[in-house]
Amino acid sequence: MRHFLTLKDLTPFELKALITRAIELKRMHIAGELYEPLKNKVLAMIFEKSSTRTRVSFESAMIQFGGGSIFLSPNDTQLGRGEPIADSARVISSMVDVIMIRTFEHEKVETLAKYSSVPVINALTDDYHPCQLLADMQTYQEHRGSIEGKTVVWVGDGNNMCHSYINAAQQFGFKLNVATPVGYEPNADIVASVDAEINLFNDVNAAVSGADLIVTDVWASMGQEEEQRKREQAFAAFQVNQDVMNLANKDALFMHCLPAHRGEEVSAEVIDGPQSVVWDEAENRLHAQKALLEFLCKTVS
Ligand code: CP
Ligand code: NVA
Repeated sequence: MRHFLTLKDLTPFELKALITRAIELKRMHIAGELYEPLKNKVLAMIFEKSSTRTRVSFESAMIQFGGGSIFLSPNDTQLGRGEPIADSARVISSMVDVIMIRTFEHEKVETLAKYSSVPVINALTDDYHPCQLLADMQTYQEHRGSIEGKTVVWVGDGNNMCHSYINAAQQFGFKLNVATPVGYEPNADIVASVDAEINLFNDVNAAVSGADLIVTDVWASMGQEEEQRKREQAFAAFQVNQDVMNLANKDALFMHCLPAHRGEEVSAEVIDGPQSVVWDEAENRLHAQKALLEFLCKTVS
């Protein structure tokens, strides 16, 4: 049985095949082909943080695949009243075929996987957001071909998305420049854990030269709402605007996992402009996660 807690849970070969499969599943969906490989299968979706894209994409994926999903929030389940995650894992996994969880501590997802008898998918923790990277890699592939050997630049907070980009640099074979304010660098252990070229900068302009892809994210992630004001000051020089895009390669793309704050981490001109592929990126959550669900359900022993 396989889990998907970080991008490192799949081999580079498996990830490549998964992106190819996602592109094929997208073609089939657009062509209106009925494909129901998960008939009668159930996905449990545990959400301890808010979501639009992740919930809609997983729920739609299960319906389109002939199965169903159950939305579980801490407000309505015993998880919110302190039932241990290990106990919940044993119970929920005895009734469903796959579990998806979005939560705070990454350790919680690891505990869930340890006690679950079915595959577990990390749908975002404080440390990682691997499902988003599947969609991002699919999107790059569709627009520009292989990302191998390209230069990707992360601008902003050294957060969960940044950490997943660091893992992706190893798994997909690209160079990653990371531009953050001092004190907001990515976790040094995660940087040290990958076999990839990761360059850290505290200046945007130096980092973006030669970029094939520029990516950013909100300055205050879920759970950091009270730091919003402080972060607005710290990140003021880290907005991806047209001046920044102009320093990158001419055919560079812009991505953002969304939701976005126009006028903060990205200007409206860039996110709504011709280099932005954020809507394809969001839609690809559906197709990439279908490929992931198919892969995980197939590899259950
Ligand atoms: N990008 C992303 O995960 O969006 P949601 O928070 O809306 O799920
Ligand atoms: N870094 C953001 C990503 C949201 C999809 C957060 O954790 O809130």
